[in-house]
Amino acid sequence: MKALIKKFVEAAGPSGFENAVRDLVKAEIAPYVDRIEVDALGSLIAWKGSRQPGGKRVMISAHLDEIGVIATHVDQNGFVRFTPLGAVRPHTCLGGRVIFQNGTRGVIGSERLEDLARTPGFEQMFIDVGAASREDCPVRTGDAGSFDRDFVALSENRLAAKAMDDRIGVAVQVEVIRQLKASPNELVFVFSTQEEVMLRGATTAAYAVDPEIGISIDVTVSGDTPRGIKMETALGKGPAIKVRDAGMISDPRLVRHMCAAAERLGIPVQLEILEGGTTDARAIQTTRAGVPAGCVSIPCRYIHSPSEVLDYQDVINSVKLLVELLGHPIDLQ
Ligand code: CO
Ligand code: ZN
Repeated sequence: MKALIKKFVEAAGPSGFENAVRDLVKAEIAPYVDRIEVDALGSLIAWKGSRQPGGKRVMISAHLDEIGVIATHVDQNGFVRFTPLGAVRPHTCLGGRVIFQNGTRGVIGSERLEDLARTPGFEQMFIDVGAASREDCPVRTGDAGSFDRDFVALSENRLAAKAMDDRIGVAVQVEVIRQLKASPNELVFVFSTQEEVMLRGATTAAYAVDPEIGISIDVTVSGDTPRGIKMETALGKGPAIKVRDAGMISDPRLVRHMCAAAERLGIPVQLEILEGGTTDARAIQTTRAGVPAGCVSIPCRYIHSPSEVLDYQDVINSVKLLVELLGHPIDLQ
């Protein structure tokens, strides 16, 4: 699965401009699903199987998009000013590199800083694409870019890349689609767009799919770094089953059901209570008259930086857990 992860994380797909990643995913899943559709917001929706006795229509969602930048204007000397797409944190930017949709690469620089103890804001930064003038600059106002960083395995199980959020969820979902042979459920796999800018893709997809159960696959914060956020989650200790985040309280029956499935499989799981951020599951939960929803999270360090780090065994176990969950009736009690 590492080759698949590398392929997905190295692709560029800032929010609203997910087409390249969507094409990659489509090619990987086409032989394994019954029907594929791209909706008006660009989300890829794949149907697999039909509802058997005891089965339900289940929507599973992982987001295609990643945080990025969008050019706001180009000055006389060819420097590109930009604003973030999604929750980019300024302190992760300086010295970083960007690749625009037209293939132009650039380096993020800043104006002279008076106080080095203070992180400059985006208004003090610019992207140097090697142009000498505005006329010479291949980037125009409105062009979107993503961070430019290679995938690397730090050790056998620890993998680092930009856009692990949420290409790791995309890779897990693709692998689940391939491995799942039979299910009593009608499974609708959504590869959503614009998650990082308020869950827009999953919002419309959930309305169209009209599911009875919703599950998202995304990253969550890992609480195991020096003086980091205090959280139960740690790398290598299994998929995290979301109990609560800033946008959702998971259906407690679904949380129990997920924990029981993990126990049957003998794989470790952790419980996630995240204080900031949310996932596509919130959009599913609050669609129409409401849907019982939950989330399988992959613990990840340095989220929304160009080097997000996670543990490969957590990824493998997330696939196993989802294949087990989706391959059986989901009775909530
Ligand atoms: Co994110
Ligand atoms: Zn995400």
